[in-house]
Amino acid sequence: VKSGAPTAANSGPLLQRVGGLDVVKKVVELFYRKLYADPHLIKFLADQDVMHLRAKQSMFVSWLFGPPGTPYTGKSVRVAHLRIIKQRGFSPEDFDLGMKYFEEAMTELGAPEVIRGEVMRRMKPFKDAFFTPAASDAAEEA
Ligand code: HEM
Repeated sequence: VKSGAPTAANSGPLLQRVGGLDVVKKVVELFYRKLYADPHLIKFLADQDVMHLRAKQSMFVSWLFGPPGTPYTGKSVRVAHLRIIKQRGFSPEDFDLGMKYFEEAMTELGAPEVIRGEVMRRMKPFKDAFFTPAASDAAEEA
């Protein structure tokens, strides 16, 4: 569907359109399974408790599937990942791989393409936020 009449998949709040909180929870669960199953990404995650990580990311996911136009007010994603960026070489390619797994998880759970596109559009700008040096880096490293 390019444009035209609104359908269940292309209008209204993202959370409802993707199938509700249940589907979102399944997406996140599958996303983590994929991250932890990746032989390259595991070096950033091996010492991380998955429940802790999920708890930390749940605000982000609520925002991601929340009302459009709401600014992200959570913790800086650069600060959250600074350790793995600086100490373990977490790279833009690693970020892309993570995004790919998120999209795959949505696909495998049946999210329509227009929704996947919208979610990925919301996630993408965080790549710059991850990898752009910030004034606060020095304080975090101290
Ligand atoms: C938190 C790793 C991808 C958003 C974290 C933490 C780790 C981590 C280790 C926990 C930091 C802490 O304990 O304080 C990774 C790895 C990824 C990845 C290995 C592999 C691709 C992403 C992506 C996004 C993201 C693609 C979103 C665009 C967040 C957020 C938090 C977080 C919002 C929580 C920040 C907070 O403390 O409020 N991540 N991450 N991560 N990550 Fe990631």
